[in-house]
Amino acid sequence: MSIADEHEREFVFTTKHFSKVRDELYDYAGIVLADHKIDMAYNRLVRRLRELRLDGFDSYFQYLDANPSEFTQFINALTTNLTAFFREKHHFDFINEHILPEIAASGQRKLRAWSAGCSLGEEPYSLAMTILDSSVNTASWDIRLLATDIDSKVLGSAQAGIYANERVNSMSKALVQKWFLKGRNGNEGHIKIRNELQSLITFNYLNLMEEWPMKGPLDFIFCRNVMIYFDQETQAGLLQRMAGLLKPGGYLFVGHSEALARHASSFELVGKTIYRKVDTH
Ligand SMILES: C[S@@+](CC[C@H](N)C(=O)[O-])C[C@H]1O[C@@H](n2cnc3c(N)ncnc32)[C@H](O)[C@@H]1O
Repeated sequence: MSIADEHEREFVFTTKHFSKVRDELYDYAGIVLADHKIDMAYNRLVRRLRELRLDGFDSYFQYLDANPSEFTQFINALTTNLTAFFREKHHFDFINEHILPEIAASGQRKLRAWSAGCSLGEEPYSLAMTILDSSVNTASWDIRLLATDIDSKVLGSAQAGIYANERVNSMSKALVQKWFLKGRNGNEGHIKIRNELQSLITFNYLNLMEEWPMKGPLDFIFCRNVMIYFDQETQAGLLQRMAGLLKPGGYLFVGHSEALARHASSFELVGKTIYRKVDTH
């Protein structure tokens, strides 16, 4: 941060203020904010100060400490929610080409999967489309997808399943026509996911740092572009817990920049950022 930047700010934001933000975020969500994220933290929180008509960060932190509901807003403001339909398409191809045929061949007619850190919902909806559109006949399967996030605001949007038209620009017209309804009567410019897809997915609030209520076994887990915000120790703990939830031979998908080699003793790498749970007995 340059001196000039500091003077351009509407409110004073000292390194002490930044430390408070960092500590709260790390203690609750496991998210590590590097030094250079100071501007980002300021820009995301300053909106709350304006909305609450507060005169500075000291007042904001007093408000935060006195109002538990503000903590939700604080977390929502600081999470990064970048996502897209069929992001890293090779993961969806792998499900279609390997996982679904494998399940079908085993005689299993049930599929359980988890999108951990689902953000605005594009990821679980892309999974649902992949499963229903598969060349494997999944029509009669018992399919349940769990989609969770720590950010209550994105979860609300994910559950509503309404997106601006531009969000599906990279998808084929046929796919969009099949799985989305066009907005009418004031909702022009937006599309809505069809109920058939929504009914496969349960959206729930879940902080990965806390206890997980689900039992498993799961066929696969998507935890993509989430662990990138955590430190090595947190990542190692999460990987172990995810291995515990997967069925033997179940799969874990991570983001393009997440190399888990160092902690992945329960997993073998079977594709680009695709891991398979190995039998450790
Ligand atoms: C960059 S988005 C990734 C979305 C999607 N998985 C993808 O790859 O397109 C990261 C998501 O992880 C969520 N997240 C961050 N920390 C979390 C935590 N401790 N527990 C649960 N979700 C968390 C954020 O709220 C955000 O929506």
